[in-house]
Amino acid sequence: MLEKIQETAAYIRGKVKEMPATAIILGTGLGSLANEITDKQEIPYEEIPNFPVSTVEGHSGKLIFGKLDEKKIMAMQGRFHYYEGYCMKEVTFPIRVMRELGIRTLFVSNASGGTNPEFEIGDLMIITDHINFFPEHPLRGKNLYGDRFPDMSEAYSRDLITKAKEIAAEKGIKVQEGVYLGTQGPTFETPAEYKMFRILGADAVGMSTVPEVIVAHHAGIEVFGMSIITDLGVEGKIMEVSHEEVQIAANAAQPKMTAIMREMINRA
Ligand code: HPA
Repeated sequence: MLEKIQETAAYIRGKVKEMPATAIILGTGLGSLANEITDKQEIPYEEIPNFPVSTVEGHSGKLIFGKLDEKKIMAMQGRFHYYEGYCMKEVTFPIRVMRELGIRTLFVSNASGGTNPEFEIGDLMIITDHINFFPEHPLRGKNLYGDRFPDMSEAYSRDLITKAKEIAAEKGIKVQEGVYLGTQGPTFETPAEYKMFRILGADAVGMSTVPEVIVAHHAGIEVFGMSIITDLGVEGKIMEVSHEEVQIAANAAQPKMTAIMREMINRA
């Protein structure tokens, strides 16, 4: 496993002249940020040794190296979801490669269903903590580096959360804060499941992010995450939800999310 990670990192290093210290996963709500990257160098996932290849329509897969404003960054366009059939080692493989490449800070985004009754569709939620509800743990098995039993008391950097709130206030963008619960999908929740997740302490529910954040934190990478509330899992407000509606709500909130993330990356 470690050899594979090193082989992949060596391949990328051989292609990219200057390695950034900042990475970003262009999840839902950040897709348009790819267009803002200059001096671009793109490497399709299928050309990268040992990399999984994404399968979901609308999630094209490539690594993008370049600059966002003057900041050198590495972006993942397309992530690997557990519901697609990948095992957790595959879902988190790119994060392990990031560690090997010397990435120090990771920015992530996603779409989620709000379980907090104060939330509205289109809200942005700064992820302050998470609940890992996936059936498989990404660190199960041989410990490749770092602690066997990693601390998780601050998986999401408090400094970065503070910065994000400052930036949001400066820009006059309303932000919520809360706990993101990651679950396997691909079904959206039943009303009873949304209720259960609320009782468990979730403010929002989604199908990604948690595995990547666990692996990044274990690797000593600082993490910041934000979620777009695309539907509500709140009693009395639950409506039929589809992937299309999630995309529409996410696209509408995209400019706000992009503005905050861009400034965060700039100051990282
Ligand atoms: N549940 C799970 N994942 C999601 C949701 C949801 O309601 N909305 C967007 N991603």
